[in-house]
Amino acid sequence: MQVEDLVTNNKIETEAWEALDKSILYYRGVPVGTLAAVDSTVESLNYDQCFIRDFVSSALLFLIQGRTDIVRNFLEETLKLQPKEKALDAYKPGRGLIPASFKVISENGEEFLEADFGEHAIARVTPVDSCLWWLILLRAYVVATKDISLAHQPEFQNGIRLIMELCLANRFDMYPTLLVPDGACMIDRRMGIYGHPLEIQVLFYAAMRAAGELLICQGNQDIVTAIDKRLPLLCGHIRQHYWIDINRLNAIYRFKGEEYGVKAVNLFNIYADSLPYYELDKWLPRKGGFLAGNVGPSQLDTRFFSLGNLMAIISDLATEEQSQAIMTLIEKRWDDLVGDMPMKICFPALENQDYKIVTGCDPKNIPWSYHNGGSWPVLMWMLAAAAVKTKRLNLAEKAIEVALFRLSGDEWPEYYDGKKGRLIGKQARKYQTWTIAGFLLAKELLKNPQHLPLVSFDKLPSELVSRACQLEFNSIDPVAS
Ligand code: GLC
Repeated sequence: MQVEDLVTNNKIETEAWEALDKSILYYRGVPVGTLAAVDSTVESLNYDQCFIRDFVSSALLFLIQGRTDIVRNFLEETLKLQPKEKALDAYKPGRGLIPASFKVISENGEEFLEADFGEHAIARVTPVDSCLWWLILLRAYVVATKDISLAHQPEFQNGIRLIMELCLANRFDMYPTLLVPDGACMIDRRMGIYGHPLEIQVLFYAAMRAAGELLICQGNQDIVTAIDKRLPLLCGHIRQHYWIDINRLNAIYRFKGEEYGVKAVNLFNIYADSLPYYELDKWLPRKGGFLAGNVGPSQLDTRFFSLGNLMAIISDLATEEQSQAIMTLIEKRWDDLVGDMPMKICFPALENQDYKIVTGCDPKNIPWSYHNGGSWPVLMWMLAAAAVKTKRLNLAEKAIEVALFRLSGDEWPEYYDGKKGRLIGKQARKYQTWTIAGFLLAKELLKNPQHLPLVSFDKLPSELVSRACQLEFNSIDPVAS
């Protein structure tokens, strides 16, 4: 970097830290989170709240800086918002859920926290990811402070247990993945991600790993055993059935349909004609690959979703080989996945009839905008963490360079539109906190890769995963790690 660029770089970083500080939300005099956006030019809608998923990027930065009190306050206050009793009616949030967001309200001179479990969200979507992120953050707090006593407090043990009970409850389907409604995560609108979307599965995996580390065995043996059983099954399932590379595409392309029973090779009865295989044949690099967006009965969503793929690398859900292949794909398809703003939330966008049917003609999610192929700077920290994990640092450095000189000039927008991400999002907020934090965190992770363990996990023993797969499907071995 040239001297002038270095000066500008430092100025931008200082500006970003100041903006992050401005977003801090105070409750009864103490910091408890960050607001989603601090943009005085537009109506705030619900952006004046602290979203659990948004706060994670700010929280990791605070932990790195040693400002652990704000993260602790956040964890304590949000835990109080978690329903502890069974819901008495179906419109109430279920026991164990953590809200999507919360805000401070004042009544008769006293402050209270008001939680939103989706009741106030567009289409009343359920924030399934919140409780998973909460657990991942609690474990990051323990890693950063080297102090497990907070997690060992009885209220915290109960909170963790309730989340795990909610996730591990017997349901109607018989997959190790979690069955969820549409819009249950960062993409909190109808986008055809109901069923078993990758993002939720990866967060579920990381949350179970976190819970396994934090739960005291005594009194929780049933949950600990359930986690130990579920982890390798989930891991093998994702590695095997979500994986797409040119070899796998070849296999799927020639799949027979309508197979019965345990000997079925085409386990989910995927019909090749439902896939854009000619597009994928052209798009997939020889050595690259990725985890599919969703897998279910006769369903294989071949869109690339960044959060799920990057977090699969970071959390060690993907094998080492798969992780390298995902990074290779990003490198080789840079124009599509990163372009002029890191990085696309998903690729490709749903267009024409698909857009109409799948999104329900959502005007915010028109092709190449917002959730439907828009570019989200917050994803930069996950790209940086994945780059550190796979030792492909140059990819993250290049991405930050792309973003550096635009984000500040554009006033830190929430997202960008267009195939290359050159348009500031049509309805994007400015001074979006996770944009600012995502950028700063990406820089911190590259500067000090030793912060990676805040969010990464060690390998699960591969024999456990292989054995689990054989048990589950009787025949197929997962892609070996
Ligand atoms: C939008 C995003 C969601 C985010 C929220 C607040 O609804 O889709 O992921 O949490 O804004 O920033």
